[in-house]
Amino acid sequence: MNASSKDNVIWVGDGPGGGPQKLHVSILGEEKARQDPPRAYLEGVQDFYGRDFIVTPDVLIPRPETEQIVDAVLNLAGKPYLPGVKPSKRKLPENPIILDVGTGSGCIAITLALELPDSTIYASDISKKAIEIAQKNAAKHNASIITIISHLLNKVNFTPDVIIANLPYVDKNWDWIDKTALSYEPETALYAKDHGLALIKELIRQAAEKQIKYLILESDPCQHEAIAKYAEDYGYDLINTMGYILSFNGHH
Ligand SMILES: C[S@@+](CC[C@H](N)C(=O)[O-])C[C@H]1O[C@@H](n2cnc3c(N)ncnc32)[C@H](O)[C@@H]1O
Repeated sequence: MNASSKDNVIWVGDGPGGGPQKLHVSILGEEKARQDPPRAYLEGVQDFYGRDFIVTPDVLIPRPETEQIVDAVLNLAGKPYLPGVKPSKRKLPENPIILDVGTGSGCIAITLALELPDSTIYASDISKKAIEIAQKNAAKHNASIITIISHLLNKVNFTPDVIIANLPYVDKNWDWIDKTALSYEPETALYAKDHGLALIKELIRQAAEKQIKYLILESDPCQHEAIAKYAEDYGYDLINTMGYILSFNGHH
């Protein structure tokens, strides 16, 4: 979810090929001209892990840094996730049950359903509109996912082997965030209270209560230390950090 600005040039993280793209905006007094909608919304698709996903302004545009959530799950499943990188020993069962909380477009859940065909994938979101887009993407890719509308784990009545979540973690007070660049995306997909940590902390508490063994969370690297400390208090050891992604192992 990175975006930064300097003078009248804005870099947003969804340029052609997944890298940042440079957008020019004119600044008139206090009022910033609205920039064009992001390319992904204009075209209606965004690449994620080599596949095209339908996106509308009801869902966050998938970001390249989130692809490493898929890598982290493949790593737990003992599968190769990068050419030349030796996979680690399998920690998940052969037919893992995986829950993607805050699925949005469904990009992570659907990618995992395709990359790990022996798994059962659940995808949840608080937004009914997001779940509808995730279902469209599942049909587009002929992927099998089970969708749930829920606040975090409130309506989850089973025990997944691993929970993954790219929940909203942006703090509205961060001065390096360009709110103009983010203004086309749903606020409920971006921002969280308590320095951006409110939903992540609540998920950690709920996961601990359910004795979930593995937890994989995206957040800004500036939040990693605080999250690792909080998770430790709830019985989760940090086992891996990849870019924006933290992997935890519970010792419940
Ligand atoms: C940062 S977006 C991530 C979307 C997608 N997983 C991705 O990585 O592109 C966060 C998602 O969490 C959802 N969300 C926000 N609050 C939630 C809550 N309390 N419970 C469940 N999902 C929530 C939003 O609707 C949004 O789809």
